[in-house]
Amino acid sequence: MVRNVAELLPELEEEDFYLLSGVEQGMRFSEWVQREKIPKFANLTEEEVDYRLERCLKRGLVEKKTIQYEGYTLQFEGYDALALRALVERETISEFGSPLGVGKESDVYEVRSYKPLALKYHREGYTNFREVHKERDYTSDKDHVSWMYTARKAAEREHDILEELYPDVAVPRPIDQNRHAIVMEKMDGVELSRTRLEPDQVLGVFDLLVTEIAGAYEAGYVHADMSEYNVFVNEEGVKVFDWPQAVPTDHANADEFLQRDLENVLGYFRRKYPQYVPDDLESDDLAASIADGSFESVRE
Ligand SMILES: Nc1ncnc2c1ncn2[C@@H]1O[C@H](COP(=O)(O)OP(=O)(O)O)[C@@H](O)[C@H]1O
Ligand SMILES: [Mg+2]
Repeated sequence: MVRNVAELLPELEEEDFYLLSGVEQGMRFSEWVQREKIPKFANLTEEEVDYRLERCLKRGLVEKKTIQYEGYTLQFEGYDALALRALVERETISEFGSPLGVGKESDVYEVRSYKPLALKYHREGYTNFREVHKERDYTSDKDHVSWMYTARKAAEREHDILEELYPDVAVPRPIDQNRHAIVMEKMDGVELSRTRLEPDQVLGVFDLLVTEIAGAYEAGYVHADMSEYNVFVNEEGVKVFDWPQAVPTDHANADEFLQRDLENVLGYFRRKYPQYVPDDLESDDLAASIADGSFESVRE
């Protein structure tokens, strides 16, 4: 797991961030940035670079390796620090809070500005990066910045999609994005997987969810990772989150993804609430009616 860098932030100095962003810039060209190149990238003197590298190494923000040359690379923590600092500088965030969730490919924390928000650090490529990292000769730079690039792209994509869907579809309101981090409204409620609905709520909640799936389709997207873990439920209704992998409806496989999303959701409701889901509901009928725009409600 990636450590929470928020408590480090107060002890980091302006020049530490110069160093981190210098290493980040060098990583555009190779995973391990040569020591000699850092002063230029970071806009710091030789002595200053030595001092700052020491501080950042000690805090686990960068990593060092010497084989053919002395090289440095950002740890995810260093990248987190850069993103967090940028979000603080532009006053998107003023306080950092506790974890809200650790997902398959993210770490999500509560943060605050004038109200509670959620900060999601994307970690796509992380496990993969760690595995590859151990094995690989560091001079082979074929996919050198893959984890950083993958995580940043995922964040950009999720932020863009939220901006397109909000407020027509019930998704968390997007607030800001920097590097691999996005800031959004903090949702109230609990994951669908962790609720036990009353018998008379089951079909209503299922209907709300399918209505959001239909709304997203109308707005041009299929979620493509729809499950009880990516839906929040509260008294006001449902919210669908976790959108980086969503596909546009003009994508060749969009309707297959739509079909699968509906199978997942219907399958979940069938397993958990067998008596309350009508037998004649079919995921392919639902998918077809969403795709041709005729879906209205699962309740007659
Ligand atoms: N806006 C939010 N408000 C509150 N909790 C959130 C928010 N976004 C994510 N979470 C929590 O963090 C967890 C992981 O987020 P998610 O977007 O699903 O990432 P992953 O791709 O890792 O599954 C969620 O299951 C949820 O509990
Ligand atoms: Mg998720």
